[in-house]
Amino acid sequence: MQAKSNQWNNNLAFLLAATGSAVGLGNIWGFPYKAGENGGGLFVVLYLFFVIVLGLPVFMAEVFIGKTGKGNPVSAIENLAVKSKSSKSWNLVGYAGILASLIIAGYYAVIAGLVVNYGFIAAAGFGVSDPSTVYAAEVANFWEMTFWFSIFLIASGVVVGYGIDKGIEKAMRILLPMLFVLVILMVGYGAVRGDMASALSYLFSWKAEQFNAGTIQAAVGQAFFSLSIGMGTLMAFGSYMPKDQKLGNASVVVVTADTAVALFAGLAIFPLVFFFALDPTAGTELVFKTMTTAFSEMGLLGQFIGPLFYFLLAVAAFSSMISILEPSVVFLSEKFSMPRAKATTYVILFCFLLSLVSVAGFNVWKDISIGALDNPFEAMKYLADDFLLLLVGTGISVFVGWRLENTINSDATGITNKGLLNLWVIILKWVSPISLLTIWTLGNLQILFDISFF
Ligand code: PHE
Repeated sequence: MQAKSNQWNNNLAFLLAATGSAVGLGNIWGFPYKAGENGGGLFVVLYLFFVIVLGLPVFMAEVFIGKTGKGNPVSAIENLAVKSKSSKSWNLVGYAGILASLIIAGYYAVIAGLVVNYGFIAAAGFGVSDPSTVYAAEVANFWEMTFWFSIFLIASGVVVGYGIDKGIEKAMRILLPMLFVLVILMVGYGAVRGDMASALSYLFSWKAEQFNAGTIQAAVGQAFFSLSIGMGTLMAFGSYMPKDQKLGNASVVVVTADTAVALFAGLAIFPLVFFFALDPTAGTELVFKTMTTAFSEMGLLGQFIGPLFYFLLAVAAFSSMISILEPSVVFLSEKFSMPRAKATTYVILFCFLLSLVSVAGFNVWKDISIGALDNPFEAMKYLADDFLLLLVGTGISVFVGWRLENTINSDATGITNKGLLNLWVIILKWVSPISLLTIWTLGNLQILFDISFF
């Protein structure tokens, strides 16, 4: 995005930046471990279902707000609220998105820092050390984790501070295909070396008893998180979209690429989980342990492929991280007319504090549970991914569906098929808000208060 014109230079730029945002830790770290924690099959099917039925429509709605409202997540909504004679309080949706983005930034940087750290460990070779011991040693060290996430946070801050200019487009052009290829190679490795049959049956068949509100909430949360919905990122990126770019087509491309990477990550990781008899329900450590097991098995080759894998994962995390920071930085700098660099500094400092809390969740505050949530890290993740995202998603749907209905046409969306356009509006008006709020309520009752109805 060019600071002067506030617009991407071409149509490819939005696709690359939005795909760079969507494809990140959520796909390669988050999806497999959440699938494992939630028992596999049902979660995966629900995730795919929600990506199509709610993810794509709400993704489009968020980009639509940015593209037609032109502005940061708060001012874009305010502009549209004025135009549609709606209450200015709709801007709360923008504020809630920014809040979610800051919380996510706080824990995202920590996992990304761990990825960078693992890159170096993989380069040195794992030798005979047991992956579980390596992981336990890494996360036990508060200062070491702080060191790694700080590097990541500062690097993201520098890029965001200068403005996500053409650099991101150039980098994504090369790195995204590389990441894609590498993930597919890892699937190949899993097929040859691991237990692909068990992985497939685990990921794509389900048992009825897994069906509960928590699993459903986790699946929607993961779908939204992975698509970068609900944090203002898509509004910001949408506002830089050239006027003639077709919003519908662009959204389908990004959503498809993102979902494919998540599925491939699952197919790369679970064959190894079963082959090495690792615990699929291990949680956030799953990817680190399975991948290191594979890399150490590969010997010298692993010392080459391992760092490459972590490097690409770090790059994917990096492009997502800058997109997480973008909404709050543009908001601050526009609202308080401060230079971008200054706004970035404030945002990074705030995220730094949140990241410290989230690191502590791995070690010094590991046993401090917050309500039903195990530690501060888990609590931050829950608050952002499962709690806030669904609410912001509801707000976006209702605002676009009910308040902006008159402005929705083929010109603004690039969708010429009237039936599809109507379907989109119906989903935004009814299907999405009703199902999101129901899932949100039941999921929270179950996870936070242990009250379940089925
Ligand atoms: N979608 C990114 C991922 O899957 C994370 C992200 C969320 C990025 C929200 C931007 C906004 O890793």
